[in-house]
Amino acid sequence: MSLRSGILFCNKSDISDATQLQKNMLRNAVEDKVTSTITSPFLGRPPANVAYATQRGRMLFGKSDQLLADGSLSRFEGKVNLIFTSPPFPLNRKKRYGNETGDTYIRWLCAYGPLFKKMLAPDGSIVIEMGNSWEPGMPVMSTLALRALLEFQSLNNLHLCQEFIWQNPAKLPSPAQWVNVERIRVKDSFTRLWWMSPNRKPKANNQRVLHEYSKAMKDLLKKGSYNSGKRPSEHEISETAFLRDNGGAIPSNVLTFANTHSSDAYQIYCRENKIQPHPARMPSELAKFFIKFLTEPDDIVLDPFGGSNTTGATAEELDRFWISIEASDDYISGSRGRFGNRITYDMHSQ
Ligand SMILES: C[S@@+](CC[C@H](N)C(=O)[O-])C[C@H]1O[C@@H](n2cnc3c(N)ncnc32)[C@H](O)[C@@H]1O
Repeated sequence: MSLRSGILFCNKSDISDATQLQKNMLRNAVEDKVTSTITSPFLGRPPANVAYATQRGRMLFGKSDQLLADGSLSRFEGKVNLIFTSPPFPLNRKKRYGNETGDTYIRWLCAYGPLFKKMLAPDGSIVIEMGNSWEPGMPVMSTLALRALLEFQSLNNLHLCQEFIWQNPAKLPSPAQWVNVERIRVKDSFTRLWWMSPNRKPKANNQRVLHEYSKAMKDLLKKGSYNSGKRPSEHEISETAFLRDNGGAIPSNVLTFANTHSSDAYQIYCRENKIQPHPARMPSELAKFFIKFLTEPDDIVLDPFGGSNTTGATAEELDRFWISIEASDDYISGSRGRFGNRITYDMHSQ
């Protein structure tokens, strides 16, 4: 069995030898190819605000609040299946890209609600990632991120489908004064992702994000028996409940990915072109999880705070269409490095 140029080569014996997880992957890959005959939503010459484009996506240069409001994306209204984004975090001091602070931040974020909802397909989802912040000069956490998410969700009449935690085990100890110097706090190593939708049952399928079974589970499946009966938690476990091979384990809402890639294509491109890498990139694994979970091939994914365009590059890799918007020309410059020769249009070479 092999995957060449996006085409899966296999024969019958491959299928019978495959584990259930491999069978699911094969089935998904075959379904992906069958469904990808859909025509591109990007027709014609890209408009002036497109910094670069590929067959599957467009990076727009500008402020997303303006571009979403002024009709630049009206063709895609009601068609976006997933808005996956990491807005500037609410900080207590301004970062290079000018994060808002305090209640101004909350009002600024909430105003995106109607703009996002207008873009969403009826069964579409919004996933917002937000990190923690601390009160300046005090070993006390700010509740601003939580308040911002809560107000965004409630003011915009969105359902909170599920809360996720992304834990980054490689996160440097911070806030340094309280963690490293005074040793009175432990390191802050997670961000929150709120999956929201106007729809109680937006498109989702956890079978697309199964984890490989643990060794214990694989052994159990092989052995075909285990201790059934009542557990201390009062759950009654039947004799066969765990004997079906479902192709992998259902993941939990705590996602652990280390953000440590130091020599990926993006970093190499930035180094070679003397571009400062984006300081707040997310790992592609995080984007991959939500794009696979909440969309299907040829669906449209929008990231209105694109940064280094992790979302666009991951969507492209997964055969989705993508639209990213980024306000900083410098960050857009670096993000080109994620696409190499897949860039089919570049405003600089026009
Ligand atoms: C947390 S970063 C996103 C990082 C991104 N997820 C990645 O992996 O590279 C937020 C980005 O939003 C951009 N930004 C801030 N305000 C914006 C606006 N109004 N419109 C578009 N982009 C904006 C910033 O320049 C910054 O690159």
